[in-house]
This record gives sequence, C-alpha cells and structure tokens, in this order.
Amino acid sequence: MYWESYSHQKIKQIIGDALKQNLDYREKAVLGLPASYLDTEVFYHDAPFLKDAPFLNTLIANPNHIGCHTLNESEAAFTGTHQIEKELIDLCAQQIFHGGEEAFDGYVASGGTEANIQAIWILKRYYEVEFDAKPTEIGVLYSEDAHYSMPKACRLLSLNSLVSKVDGATRKVTKESIEQCVAEARQKGIKHLIVIMNMSTTMFGSVDDIEEITGWLDDLEVDYKVHIDGAFGGFIYPFSTKNMAYTFQNPKINSFTLDGHKMLQSPYGTGIYLTRKGFMEYALTEEANYVKGKDYTLVGSRSGANAVAVWMIMRTYGSDGWKAKIQKLLSKTSRLCSSLDERGIEYFRNPDVNIVTIKAEYISAELASKYMLVPDAHGDDVKWWKIVVMDHVQQGILDRFLMDLDAERVAAK
Ligand SMILES: Cc1ncc(COP(=O)(O)O)c(C=O)c1O
Repeated sequence: MYWESYSHQKIKQIIGDALKQNLDYREKAVLGLPASYLDTEVFYHDAPFLKDAPFLNTLIANPNHIGCHTLNESEAAFTGTHQIEKELIDLCAQQIFHGGEEAFDGYVASGGTEANIQAIWILKRYYEVEFDAKPTEIGVLYSEDAHYSMPKACRLLSLNSLVSKVDGATRKVTKESIEQCVAEARQKGIKHLIVIMNMSTTMFGSVDDIEEITGWLDDLEVDYKVHIDGAFGGFIYPFSTKNMAYTFQNPKINSFTLDGHKMLQSPYGTGIYLTRKGFMEYALTEEANYVKGKDYTLVGSRSGANAVAVWMIMRTYGSDGWKAKIQKLLSKTSRLCSSLDERGIEYFRNPDVNIVTIKAEYISAELASKYMLVPDAHGDDVKWWKIVVMDHVQQGILDRFLMDLDAERVAAK
C-alpha cells in the first residue's frame, strides 16, 4: 500500500487545474443546465481567503458529479473534477484494498447507508439478470451486530433478511447460527445469498472472520456474493492489520463500503462504494437520457466538492502519514484499555480498531451522559456504552473520565 503525500501548493495547483477544465458558469454561455454557481449574495466568489482554499473553491464552483466516472464518459461540463473522483476511487481500490493493476468501479455516495444499499441493489440485479431469480429467491445474510442499513436495504428492495447471531463476549458470528440461517433460507426457497461482512461493526469495532464464515458457507454449498461494510473500519482496519483477507486479493469479495465522514474527518456526504469491474452496470438506469453516460448510482446529482475533500485529505497525509495517524489513535485506545484493566472493568475491544465498548454495569447513565458515550440501545435496556477514540478525544478528557469513574465507584461502595 503506497500513495504519495502532496504539499498544499501541489494540491491547490491540481484542484485549480481541475476546476479550470470544468465549465465556469461565468465564462460560458450555459443555457440548458438547471444549475449554476452557488448564490453570490451568500457565497461570494471573490472572498480573499478562497485563493488558498481549494475545497471551498470547489464548493462555490458547484460541479455536479452525477453518474459514475470510472465507467464511461460523463457530463463534459465537469470532467476536471470527475477525474479527481476517479483517482480517488482508484487510490482506495488499488492501494487501501490492494487491488493491484486491476481496474475497479465506484463513486462517492452520500454515506455508508447509500453505499451499502447500492451494493445490495447491484447484487440483487446480478442475480435477477444472470440467474433469472425472483426477489423472493434472494436473501441478505448479515450478523445481528451489522448496521441498520442492511434491514433498511432489505425493506427497500423487497429482499429476505437472514440475521446470524454472535457470541455475546467475543462478538464472533457462530457457526450454528450460520447453519440455521442457511436452513431457514432453503426452507423459504432462497437460492442466492448476498453476504455482508463487517469490517468493523458500529458498536463494537468487531471484524467478522471472513475466511471462517465463507468456509462454512462453501461447506454448505451456498451460492453467494460478498459485500464488505467498512463504513467505520475502512480507513482504520486496512492500516492496522496485516491480514489480507479484507482486500481485493480475496477473490470472494465483490465490493466495499467505506466512509470518509467518519475516521477521515471529511465533510458529510462522503461515503464511498467500490466494486470489481463488471458489476456497476447492473445499476444502470437506462432511462437517464438527459445525463451523458447515463446513471448507475442511487443518488443522482451530487457535489464534486465531496470527492475533492476526500482526495485532498488522502493526498495531504499520503499512505505513511495516514498509517502513523491510525497508530497514534490505536495507542491511545490501548492506553485507555490498560486503565480499564487496572480497574477490573469489562469491555470489548478489537486491537486493530479504536472502539472500546464497556459493559453497562460499570458506568452510570449520568457519567455516560456527561461524556456522551453511545449506548447499544436507547431507553432502559442499555447493555453497553461505547467510546470511539477519535482525533478530538484528547488524553486529558480520557483521564477526567477515568477519575470521575473512580469517584463514582468509591461512592457506590
Ligand atoms: C458499520 C457501519 N455501516 C454503515 C453506517 C452508515 O453510515 P452513514 O451514517 O454514513 O450512512 C455506519 C454508521 O455509523 C456504520 O458504522
């Protein structure tokens, strides 16, 4: 995995050149597009700070990234920034997920939810087109710790949900529950499975054992395709593990979701969907006649500034800088875990992820509320509280939390 870090000067130059290649609504006679630059009363384009702010400049120029820019020729008006999005998709697929020289498709989606729905939609269409399958013959298999975008996708697409169980302590999917899900699928006449693997769950940071689970499915002679939900872990796990099972080197993996607007700290609207070549086409909306290159995405019009933001962050750090940042966050997470161990407090933590999920019996609702910990369920039924060691989680805040926790435990005794 390697990509170069660029200086601010170089980034400014590249984005500036891309914007020059795009249509400028001020300079060209544009009569047909239902769009323009951002409202000049509010977003004036001659603000002096803009000359040093390529992301804000892109926002104000307002390029539309409708369509899929890795696939075919799209709207000529914005080819400059479309190219930036294409480079971003290539960087993610080839460098983060070790795709090598292979080519991939993908786009910057509104978020992890959209990218997961896109993945399930594409695989549903694949089974419908290639196997003449009916929706009732297609199931989506995911664990009880998976994100709620999976049941959402199943309801939207009229697909069957098959939810496997995890062990309460290790958060590992159990073999017995996979066997039960497969038996249930067969009983319902389901012939094809879309299998979702968590490359970090939302609540626990647990990563499904993809080799073990696909091995069980192979033994059961199931027909399936795998999508990876890396909305949370996509910008962490590949940088902290040596395990190559969650890369495009694993032929079982069809597609990935990852989210810039979580670990990467890019603006909201920066989910990423990546897929092997030959699958994006299943999401073609043939009727998108007014869009050059047609549309292959769920979302339709979307801001090119989002792709530029993610590209800028990745290019500012470079792969080495990003690895170093992740290592720093993981060390801070390990230090928190050692402090919890010293106090005999039980928690779940995947050593490759920066989430610590503490059993609710050790934390009062008041303390959780003071430090804005996130529960596994809102209401009276809280079993776990989660801490995510993000950039803003300074050591001082963790120390204060531990002191308050100690005081609370002394008072309880
Ligand atoms: C594992 C996982 N998948 C999907 C999502 C959905 O992402 P978004 O809120 O960007 O749609 C999340 C959000 O927390 C997540 O943690």
